[in-house]
Formats: sequence, C-alpha cells, structure tokens
Amino acid sequence: MRALVIDSADLTRKRLCTFLRDRGYDVDIADTGEEGVLRAQGFAPAVAFVAQQLPDIDGEQLIQPLTSLGVDTRVMVMADAVELDRAVHAMKHGAEYYFAKPLDFDHVAMILDGVESLQRSSREDAHSRRMDRRKSSRTPTIGESPQIVKVQRLVKLLAQNRTTPVLIMGESGSGKELVARSIHELSGISGPLVEINCASLSEALLESELFGHEKGAFTDAKVLKKGLFEIAAGGTIFFDELGEMPLAIQAKLLKVLDTNLFRRVGGTIDIRSDARFMAATNRDLPQLVREGKFREDLYYRINVLPIKLPSLRERGGDILLLADYYVRLVGESMGRSYMRLNSSVEELLCAYRWPGNVRELRNVIERALILAGSGPIAPDHLPADIRELHPVETGSAENGKLLPLWQVEEEHIRRVLCSTNNNHSRTASILGMSRSTLLARLKKLSPLS
Ligand SMILES: Nc1ncnc2c1ncn2[C@@H]1O[C@H](COP(=O)(O)OP(=O)(O)OP(=O)(O)O)[C@@H](O)[C@H]1O
Ligand SMILES: [Mg+2]
Repeated sequence: MRALVIDSADLTRKRLCTFLRDRGYDVDIADTGEEGVLRAQGFAPAVAFVAQQLPDIDGEQLIQPLTSLGVDTRVMVMADAVELDRAVHAMKHGAEYYFAKPLDFDHVAMILDGVESLQRSSREDAHSRRMDRRKSSRTPTIGESPQIVKVQRLVKLLAQNRTTPVLIMGESGSGKELVARSIHELSGISGPLVEINCASLSEALLESELFGHEKGAFTDAKVLKKGLFEIAAGGTIFFDELGEMPLAIQAKLLKVLDTNLFRRVGGTIDIRSDARFMAATNRDLPQLVREGKFREDLYYRINVLPIKLPSLRERGGDILLLADYYVRLVGESMGRSYMRLNSSVEELLCAYRWPGNVRELRNVIERALILAGSGPIAPDHLPADIRELHPVETGSAENGKLLPLWQVEEEHIRRVLCSTNNNHSRTASILGMSRSTLLARLKKLSPLS
C-alpha cells in the first residue's frame, strides 16, 4: 500500500514516514500542495496525510483533488491545533479524518486499521470475480420505517431481475450509492461494479471512458483503451449523477441499452455488452426532461422500477436507529464502544430537518463523539443549527416566514413519531389522539419538499 505525506514541517514528516514505513507502506513525500497533487497523480496513494498549513495552499483545498484521483485515496488532515469547525468542515468535504499535531500514533494506527480494512474489501469487490458474498463487508441498510422497508423490497426484487435497468433517485446523502452496491452484491453476479460520475468528465472524455477507443482514434490515443462497458462485463456499470450526462452521450447510452452493442471510439466493430445498467441522481429527471436537458426516451427506458429514496426527515424513527448505529460504529473505532445518546440529544436529532440526510447525520455523530471526549454526549456537542429552535417551537420556517398551522402540526407529528421510534400507539397517546386518527393523519402527510 502507498502513502503520501504532504507537509513542510520536517519533524512531523519524519516521524510519520517512519511510522508508515514500519506499518509496511511505500511512502512518498511532498513539501507543497502543488507538488503533492502532482506526485499523487503518478503514485496513486491509498492514503494521503496533508498538513492543514502548507507554504502554497491551505491543506483542506487538497481534499477534493486528492479524493478525485479515481483510486479511492483517503485524505487525513493534520492541523497544528484542533479547530472543531474546521475539522467538521474538512470531514464534510471528504477528509477521512482530522488529526491534531503532534500526532498521537496510537490514534493514527486505529484510524488506519479502519481505512485499510475498508479498502481491502472494496478492492476485493472490484477485482474479485469470484466474490464471496458471505465475506462482504458492506454497510447494512439501516432502517425500519415503511419507506425504507419498501426500498429494501425493491432492492431484493431488482437483485433477482438482473436485466432490469436500475434507477435510484434521492436527495444528496440519502444512500443512493449504498443501494446501488447492495443490489449489485445481492444479485450475485460475478463481474465487478464499475462506477462513473457523469458530472466529473467532459463529453469527449466521458465517451472514451465509457466506450474505450482504438489506437489512433484521436491525437492522444496512442494505445487501444478498453472502455468501462468492457471492464464491467458480467458485472454492473453504475452511472452516478446521471442527470448531468451530456445529451449526446445520452443518445449513445440509449443505443447500448436497446441493442447491447457498442463501438469503441474510432472503432468499426460492434462489441457486445452484458453489463447491468444502474444509475443514480439527485436531480428531478422528469423536470430535466421537460427542460429538454434529459432525453425522454432514455428516461422511459430506465424508469422501470425506480427506487425513490426517502429523505431522512421523512423516515421518522430511522433517525434514531441510524444515530445509534453510528454512535456504536464510530464509538468503537475510537475505543469508546460504551457511548450512548441521551434523550435530550435524541429529541434535538428528531426535530432537525437533515438537509444532508444520512451523511450529515453521520458527520454530526462523529463530531459529537470527538467533542464529548470520554464524557456523555450532550446537546452542546451538536452543531448550532441543530440546537436552535425549530419550526414547531418558533412556528416559522428557516427564512423566518410564519408557518400555517397544518405545517407546524405535521412537523410535530413527525417529531413525536421519531422519538417513539415509529410506535403508533405511543405517538397517538402523546399527541392526544386515537390511533386511527393518527393513522389517517399519517396517510395525509404532505410529501416533503
Ligand atoms: N440506510 C442506511 N443505513 C446505513 N447507512 C446509510 C444508509 N443510507 C445512507 N447511509 C450512509 O450514508 C452515507 C451517504 O450515503 P451514499 O453515499 O450512498 O449517499 P448518496 O445518495 O449517494 O449521496 P450523494 O448524492 O451525495 O452522492 C454513506 O456513508 C452511507 O453508508
Ligand atoms: Mg453518491
């Protein structure tokens, strides 16, 4: 495994390099951000340790270029002093971990243990054509709300019907990628899951990435290159952020879906593709179709059994199930498996609207665990916007506009439902209504915007 250390401070660099080499890593070093990114491109490190302060750039600005190298590089930021807001910001933007200097190497080792085992399993997933599903270490899809149970049913159904295209829609952080992986793994197909982010490449690059190119197809095409459709043979090709796919590529994709045939760029022979199609988007595809930005025929072709992931705020008691799961998971990685949430924290978590969904919840829990140290998690350890009064108390939305009564009521029903873990009888009794009245109200709850 390879590690890259980007830091201009000699002492940290030296100690860290020794530590990493002892752990069996091939280590490369860079003094500046620019040099770091250049080295990373050739070196493809599994982990990169980046100082927050570098001579030419703020280390956090390297998170994005380093994590998008396409090799699953995990970025650890090293700060001179812990500033919580920056730590949270860094982790929200893709950093794996945020350490304070001087580094506590026991702690670094613990975090690396987790990263290494995750990377091992994802490498196995990607490369092993004889994937042993019993060993699979995928994240379980946590949740018991009716909405997520429906999703789980669809996941099973789609895993059994291996030729049906899969379309997953949902807000950012709602678990689209997790669902795609689950379907792939449950379907027991032998090929790899190959992912492509449609927003990250230009039209020309996307085309040669997908279909490959013949030698000499264009100036830079010095050798024949296989496209992802070929690499995904016998497996799954997963288009993330499908809504961003350029129209010209959409037309080509539709053709592959219809005929199972494609040609390399500059090629003249048809190649057969048996990769299963999956796609995810957080955009409103019907709206994009109306705006002429997404092909209607492609939309109908893939919209067979679409999975619409509910937002976290629609999932009631799942908020607490997930929060508990992350408290245990993250707590264990910090050696604090005894950590639990108390009821005042739970109440605040239930009342919040979760624009960043499950990913945001995970970040909030991680942050709270870091802040709580070895003590109990208290409301103070939650970010200000979660601690602040919310619509039910203020009767107003985030923009300060006063809300109509039905909306305040709905918020309150959702909140009580969450805190009783979706127990209808208890919810009804707290709200002072009969169970049947509650059920009728739940049916009428407006879909959240
Ligand atoms: N039901 C769930 N149970 C457990 N973990 C979940 C669940 N849903 C999402 N997660 C976790 O939340 C995080 C975000 O999920 P994921 O990356 O799948 O979201 P996404 O919809 O693809 O987000 P984006 O739109 O930003 O790409 C991941 O760490 C994932 O493991
Ligand atoms: Mg995603």
